[in-house]
Amino acid sequence: MGYAELHARSLADPEGFWLEAAEAIDWVRYPTAALNAEKAPIYQWFSDGLVNACWNAVDRHVAAGRGAQVAIIHDSPVTHTVREITYTELRDRVASLAGALAAKGVGKGDRVIIYMPMIPEALEAMLACARIGAIHSVVFGGFAASELATRIDDAQPKAILAASCGIEPGRVVHYKPLLDRAIEMAAHKPDFCVIFQREQEVAELTPGRDHDWHAVQYGVKPADCIPVEGDHPLYILYTSGTTGQPKGVVRPTGGYLVALNWTMKNIYGLDPGEVFWTASDVGWVVGHSYICYGPLVHGNPTIVFEGKPVGTPDAGTFWRVIAQHRVRSFFTAPTAFRAIKREDPEAKMLAGHDTSCLRTLYLAGERADPDTVEWAQAKLGVPVVDHWWQTESGWPIAANPMGYERLPIKIGSPSVAMPGYDVQVLDEGGHPVPPGTLGAIAIKLPLPPGTLPTLWHAEERFRKSYLQHFPGYYETGDAGYMDEDGYLYIMARTDDVINVAGHRLSTGAMEEVLASHPDVGECAVIGVADELKGQLPFGFLCLNKGVDRPEAEVVKECVALVRDRIGPVAAFRHAAVVDRLPKTRSGKILRATMAAIADGRDWKMPATIDDPAILDEIGATLARVGYPRTVG
Ligand code: COA
Ligand code: AMP
Repeated sequence: MGYAELHARSLADPEGFWLEAAEAIDWVRYPTAALNAEKAPIYQWFSDGLVNACWNAVDRHVAAGRGAQVAIIHDSPVTHTVREITYTELRDRVASLAGALAAKGVGKGDRVIIYMPMIPEALEAMLACARIGAIHSVVFGGFAASELATRIDDAQPKAILAASCGIEPGRVVHYKPLLDRAIEMAAHKPDFCVIFQREQEVAELTPGRDHDWHAVQYGVKPADCIPVEGDHPLYILYTSGTTGQPKGVVRPTGGYLVALNWTMKNIYGLDPGEVFWTASDVGWVVGHSYICYGPLVHGNPTIVFEGKPVGTPDAGTFWRVIAQHRVRSFFTAPTAFRAIKREDPEAKMLAGHDTSCLRTLYLAGERADPDTVEWAQAKLGVPVVDHWWQTESGWPIAANPMGYERLPIKIGSPSVAMPGYDVQVLDEGGHPVPPGTLGAIAIKLPLPPGTLPTLWHAEERFRKSYLQHFPGYYETGDAGYMDEDGYLYIMARTDDVINVAGHRLSTGAMEEVLASHPDVGECAVIGVADELKGQLPFGFLCLNKGVDRPEAEVVKECVALVRDRIGPVAAFRHAAVVDRLPKTRSGKILRATMAAIADGRDWKMPATIDDPAILDEIGATLARVGYPRTVG
């Protein structure tokens, strides 16, 4: 059966397709049905099955006699160490940590926040939660204390697992003070914290609340895997929406395991035992799916890389890791390749690294610009596969199924819809548009297994954010078109989300922070094109009447405020003071028009604009601070 036929089957016979795919997973009780539409449009998959994610990711490989195989490779140029952990070691470490959590009262359905850098213990923490049915929520280390506090209040964790520090090139990120501040700010307090003390920094523990990672495990009984229902949440992962309140994407266990396992061979082309490397962070969905669960469930050694594409120590690091660990499939964000290309345009640092083991390079997280794709393809001599997905989907919505049938690659497109995804491009009225026509990208309900059934304790928000605009569809928030062959082209977001170095950020959240500055009366944040990071945030600040301070001073304070409240990951560095903001007659700020002016793109005067002269002022302000910039 060719891929087109397979995809058609997945839509025509979802029960048959997914129950068959489910056979690759170990169930404690095999599900009698795949889809449960009782609560539609909130759909559940495999809800009458019983399963455990940790068993599937770890124990079953030991039980099958592959305990001595490497499960995790920690490659850390920032600490100059490389360490390997086998499946047997992983099982013992995870069972012990899970035992400690259970002994302290953490059980099925309890939430646990994980705030850790790229070390194997981060994966072990996730797996330990999964082992006892606790729901983990990993928070990316580049977020500030108040973002962590927001997540603590929303998830209401019983425990928080953290490391003493993270290591960024040139600085140690002091996690523990950030954690202390977050707990202080949050209304909800965890019962206890477990701190992994790194050699680079030993944190001071708060007596009565904090426990040392190893000490807390001393003398406890290792925990067994607890069977959970197929739709039991494995984790909550917060992602940016239009406001400062992040969305808690819920990930159901059974469907996720089934879908991820399917992708490992059919998209990533891997057989068990072959090394998979995803250079991302466990704080993002890419890290959950393809650093932790996907490869481990499928039996592929996974690399936990603690470094950057450049500067740790140089632009040859990626090539060294690929060659040293015999990586078969490699996945990262285009921005990482742009960083390497900028530093070493001829890829001279490839010399001396035998990367012949590599079969395919996968890119996602942001638009893959043709220049970068062509450069990577030419230098590495392997196919470069762009694929498109989001935190909400948990696994690729569109990709090239390289391990099933290698479809022709069209540069600029993440290829075609994956099984179970009925992707359509709609006009404003919700009607499908002809091929080649731009529109909103939506997916006909139900979404396939593994995707979000709802938002954590916010079903109404889930319906409003994703289901309301196009009844019967899930709205992706991306706009684009499909060609005659069913290839998708992702062009832009339809909301106020921007993408900075493959990181999804909310301009609304940044505006909320800027508006809290005592001198700022009104503000707007847009994403401007950036050669390296794809997009960067830019702020327009209208100062309160009577405020007469130098622009540079206010901008500096605003930059510091965003860094302090959202975190360094926001990369908010540029802003300008303006007298007024362009708006429609109904008062909506014309952010898209401002972004077009900043990028030097063609734009049309919005028919509903209140005062067109304001756009001239915005253009003049942008010109004063150097926009539009030349973007390659
Ligand atoms: N903990 C603490 N701080 C972090 C962090 C973490 N886990 N990750 C990033 N930061 C900080 C950085 O130190 C930097 O701080 P600074 O302003 O003090 O320099 C800031 O957040 C921005 O980080 P980053 O986006 O990594 O930018 P960079 O300029 O340091 O590096 C690239 C640029 C292109 C090398 C980098 O963005 C990169 O490797 N991107 C890969 C993209 C990726 O993995 N995306 C995930 C989705 S697939
Ligand atoms: P996140 O939820 O952080 O994974 O971000 C998801 C968003 O990133 C998508 O909705 C897109 O806007 C963007 N994105 C992800 N992958 C791609 C891709 N291959 N091409 C274009 N945009 C992408």
